[in-house]
Amino acid sequence: MLPDSSPFSPDQRKALDSLLAGFDALQRGWLSGFLASGSTAPAATAAPASAGKLTVLYGTESGNSEELADRAMKDAKKRGFKAVMKNMADIAPADLAKTENLLVIVSTWGDGEAPETAVGFHKDFMSEDVKLAGVKFSVCALGDTSYEQFCEIGKQFDSRLEKLGATRIAPRADCDVDYEDTYSEWYAAAMKELAPAAPEPVAAVHAGSGAIPTVAYGKKNPFLSEVYENVILNGERSEKETIHVELSLAGSGLNYEPGDALAVLPTNCPSMIKDILNAAKLSGTEEIEVKGLGKKLLADALREDYDITALSKAVLKKLAAATDSTTLAELLEEDAKDKLREYINGREIVDAIADFAPKGLSAEALTGIFRKLPVRLYSIASSPLAHPEEVHLTVAAVRYETYGRIRKGVCSTFLADVAKTGESVPVFVQPNKNFRLPADGNTPIIMVGPGTGVAPFRSFVEHRAAVGADGKNWLFFGDQRYTYDFLYQLEWQDFLKNGNLSKLDLAFSRDQPEKVYVQDKMLANGEELYKWLEDGAHFYVCGDATRMAADVHEALISIVENYGAKSREDAEEYVENLKKTKRYQRDVY
Ligand SMILES: Cc1cc2nc3c(=O)[nH]c(=O)nc-3n(C[C@H](O)[C@H](O)[C@H](O)COP(=O)(O)OP(=O)(O)OC[C@H]3O[C@@H](n4cnc5c(N)ncnc54)[C@H](O)[C@@H]3O)c2cc1C
Ligand SMILES: NC(=O)c1ccc[n+]([C@@H]2O[C@H](COP(=O)([O-])OP(=O)(O)OC[C@H]3O[C@@H](n4cnc5c(N)ncnc54)[C@H](OP(=O)(O)O)[C@@H]3O)[C@@H](O)[C@H]2O)c1
Ligand SMILES: Cc1cc2nc3c(=O)[nH]c(=O)nc-3n(C[C@H](O)[C@H](O)[C@H](O)COP(=O)(O)O)c2cc1C
Repeated sequence: MLPDSSPFSPDQRKALDSLLAGFDALQRGWLSGFLASGSTAPAATAAPASAGKLTVLYGTESGNSEELADRAMKDAKKRGFKAVMKNMADIAPADLAKTENLLVIVSTWGDGEAPETAVGFHKDFMSEDVKLAGVKFSVCALGDTSYEQFCEIGKQFDSRLEKLGATRIAPRADCDVDYEDTYSEWYAAAMKELAPAAPEPVAAVHAGSGAIPTVAYGKKNPFLSEVYENVILNGERSEKETIHVELSLAGSGLNYEPGDALAVLPTNCPSMIKDILNAAKLSGTEEIEVKGLGKKLLADALREDYDITALSKAVLKKLAAATDSTTLAELLEEDAKDKLREYINGREIVDAIADFAPKGLSAEALTGIFRKLPVRLYSIASSPLAHPEEVHLTVAAVRYETYGRIRKGVCSTFLADVAKTGESVPVFVQPNKNFRLPADGNTPIIMVGPGTGVAPFRSFVEHRAAVGADGKNWLFFGDQRYTYDFLYQLEWQDFLKNGNLSKLDLAFSRDQPEKVYVQDKMLANGEELYKWLEDGAHFYVCGDATRMAADVHEALISIVENYGAKSREDAEEYVENLKKTKRYQRDVY
C-alpha cells in the first residue's frame, strides 16, 4: 500500500496500489513456478550451443504481430539462437543485408495496406534494391478473411524477399483473425528448417510482451467484467446510437494506459441464431464437436463460438464445397471478382445459406463454413487515474438495413442491448504502444477525434488532468448535430473551464446545409495549428479510417505547406517526419 503521505490523491493511490498488486501477484506467480521447477536459474541455461543469428521482423498496428514476434524471439533464444526482434518502424531495408535468418510477421490494414507504423519501411522495401542473397526467410502474414485484400502485405513481403535473392525456408502462412494454430504451425515449420537438430525449448512461453507485466488475461481466458453503467450519449432525436459503457476491473489486476484498447468477446444475437438455424433447416439441439472445446449443442456453439455473420470469399468457398450450387461455383471463378464483391456487399452468411443451400445443411456442414468468433477492440475512453479499477468505452451501435433485413453489428449491439448494468462481459486489455501521450507532460497535444474517435482523448485529457501535466491540450471533435450528438459535452466544457483543455473546435456536420468536418476546422485554424507543431506538439487522430483519417492527413499536409511556406513535397516530408518521430499517431478503424 502506498502511504497517505505519498504525493497522490486517494483515487490515484487506489489506482497505483491496484497496479502494484497486479505486478506483485505476477512476481509471486513467477517465483512460485520457478521454485516448484527446482531450477537454479531461468530457463535460458537449458539452451544449446549457438544455433546462429535470427531476426524476427514485425510490422503491427494493434499489437498482434508484435506479440507473436516477441513469442518467436523468446522461443528461438531458448533454442540457442542469438535472436533479436525488430520493429519495421525502427529500421531501414539495408539493415537486413547482414541478417542470416529472418522471420517476418506482418499484418495488413486499411484496404490491403501496411500497418500504420510500417508504411515507410514497406514502401522502401518494395522499391529499394537490397541484396539479400544468403538470407533465409519465412513470412507469417496476419489478416482477416473478411477483407478482400486478405494478408496482402505479408504476400508482398514474401514475394519481394524472394525477388531480392533471399531463400524461403518455409511457406508463407496466411492467418485469419484466429491466428494461434496457423502461427504455431508456421513457426514449427520454420524452426524445423532453421534448427533441425536443436532440442525443443524447455519452458512454456507466456503471452504478453510489454515491459510492464500485465496479468495474463487474453482471448482464451478473458476477465469477466461487471457492467457498472451503460448509457446512451445521444439525445432522443439523434440519428446516432452511441453508448458509454463503464466496466469494472476490480480484483482483476488488469491495468492499462491511455491509448490502449479493450478487447470484448461478444456472443451472437438469439434472433440471428434462429435465422441461421431456419436457413440451414436445423433445430439447434444437434450435438456437434467444437475444435478445442469438445461436444456442444449446436445452438450454444452458434451463440458462443462461431462467426455466424461476416460473409467473405473464404466462407463462400467452404459453402461451395458443402453444396452443389453451380451459381455459387460460378461466382467464385477467377474472372467473376466484381460479381463476387457485389454479392458480398451488404449481405451476411444467412443470405448465402438461403441462396445457395436452399435444402439446408447438416450440422457439421454448417459449422464447417464458420470461423471462430473474433474479439472486437474498443479504444479505452477513461484514465486509470481518474477511474481506478474501471474502464470506459464509447461505442457506436451498428444497425442498418440491406436486402430487406435489419442487420446488427455483433459486438456493438451486444454491448448496447445485452451488456446492461449488472451483467458481465468477457474482456482483456490490448496494449497499443503506438498511441501514447508524450512522456513529457509539458508537450502540447492536438487531438482530432470525430464520433467515437473522441474516446481515447477523454482518456488523454483525464489523465493529464490527474497527473497535473502543464502541456496544452487542443481537441477537434465533430459529429452530426450539436444538440443531440455532442458526446461528453459537459465534461469538455468543465475541462475547458478549469484549464485542462486549452482549445476545443467543433464540427457538427448536419447543422447547416453544407457539411462541416473536423478537417475544415483544422484548416480554418491552420496558422495556429502549424505554430503548435513548430512548438513540438504531438498530433493524434482517432476514428473512421476509410474517409476521415485520409482527409485529416491531407488537411495536415496542406496546413504545413501553407503556413510553413513549403513545397508540397517538403510538407509531405515534414508530416512523414512527424510520424517517424512518433509525434503523429493514429488509432483508426
Ligand atoms: C483499434 C480499434 C479501436 C476501435 N475503437 C472503437 C471505439 O472506440 N468505438 C467504436 O464504436 N468502435 C471502435 N472500433 C470498431 C469496433 O472494433 C467494431 O469494429 C465495431 O464496433 C463494429 O463491430 P460489430 O461487431 O458491432 O459489427 P460487425 O458484426 O463486425 O459488423 C460490421 C460490418 O458490418 C458492415 N456494415 C456496417 N455498416 C454497414 C452499412 N451501413 N451498410 C452495409 N454494411 C455495413 C460492414 O461490413 C462492417 O465491417 C475500433 C476498432 C479498432 C480496430
Ligand atoms: N469501416 C467502417 O465500416 C466504419 C468505420 C468507422 C465508422 N463506421 C460506422 O460509423 C458509425 C458511427 O461511427 P462514429 O460514431 O465513430 O462516427 P462517424 O460515422 O465516423 O461520424 C462522425 C462525424 O464524422 C463526420 N464525417 C463523415 N465523413 C467524414 C470525413 N470524410 N471527414 C471527417 N469527418 C467526416 C460525420 O458526418 P456525416 O455523417 O454527417 O457525413 C460525423 O459528423 C458506426 O456505425 C460505425 O460502424 C464504419
Ligand atoms: C480497420 C482494419 C482494416 C483491416 N484491413 C485488413 C485487410 O485489408 N486485409 C487483411 O487481411 N486484414 C485486415 N485487417 C485485419 C488485421 O490485419 C488483423 O486484425 C491483424 O491480426 C492485426 O494485426 P496487428 O495487431 O499486428 O496489426 C484489418 C483490421 C482492421 C481493424
